[in-house]
Amino acid sequence: MADHEMGVPVITIDGPGGSGKGTIAMRLAEHLGWHFLDSGALYRLVAVAAMSREIAVEDEQALGSLAESLDVNFGVSGDGMVILLDGNYITGHLRSEEVSAFSSEIAAFPLVRAALVQRQRAFRKPPGLVADGRDMGTVIFPDAMLKIFLTASAEARAQRRYKQLKDKGESVNLSRLFREIKKRDERDSSRAIAPLVPAADAHVIDSTEMSINDVVQKIHNLHDKSDTSN
Ligand code: DC
Repeated sequence: MADHEMGVPVITIDGPGGSGKGTIAMRLAEHLGWHFLDSGALYRLVAVAAMSREIAVEDEQALGSLAESLDVNFGVSGDGMVILLDGNYITGHLRSEEVSAFSSEIAAFPLVRAALVQRQRAFRKPPGLVADGRDMGTVIFPDAMLKIFLTASAEARAQRRYKQLKDKGESVNLSRLFREIKKRDERDSSRAIAPLVPAADAHVIDSTEMSINDVVQKIHNLHDKSDTSN
């Protein structure tokens, strides 16, 4: 880490897929005027690049080199974040179930994770960073000023995902989504390296019965408190 980045404040929001952490982290970053890291997008980008190069999901060596050399750029356009992979816009299929499953599998490889560490830490720039993922508070930014672990029941997460995809006009099956979510939870939580677990100093928030606004408010309150106690 460069010297000037040492004191840059970071808020981490970790949790399983569908807990709402992406939306919440983005809102928080926008409100604070801070940078935003969607670390899952990096794993998804490695998955997309691997699939288009026909690299096998079990080829850790090739996947690690790919993650190392990934040509990716994040930018903002009028209607949100845009991502360029190898100079081409990609957005839509980054969130598909196929990419979700592939990225969750390759995220278990130490070579893939190691290749992405510096890329993630490089997002830490003044005035601050809100980082969303699985290991933001435990591995990537262990010195974060505020760590949130956001969870929700698998049923609630499947319902949210179902609604999201339906709203986009995709045909989806709720019980299949539920099974996929459980499978991904199991894989993300049980892997040997950087598993999905709350950091010892994380605030755990269960959003099953909470609206996005409720969660954002709660995090703001925690942030105000952590600001005055520092
Ligand atoms: O947050 P997401 O659903 O977009 O993440 C996609 C996959 O990437 C997820 O199944 C696990 C992996 N991931 C990870 O292992 N570590 C992170 N910090 C973020 C995502």
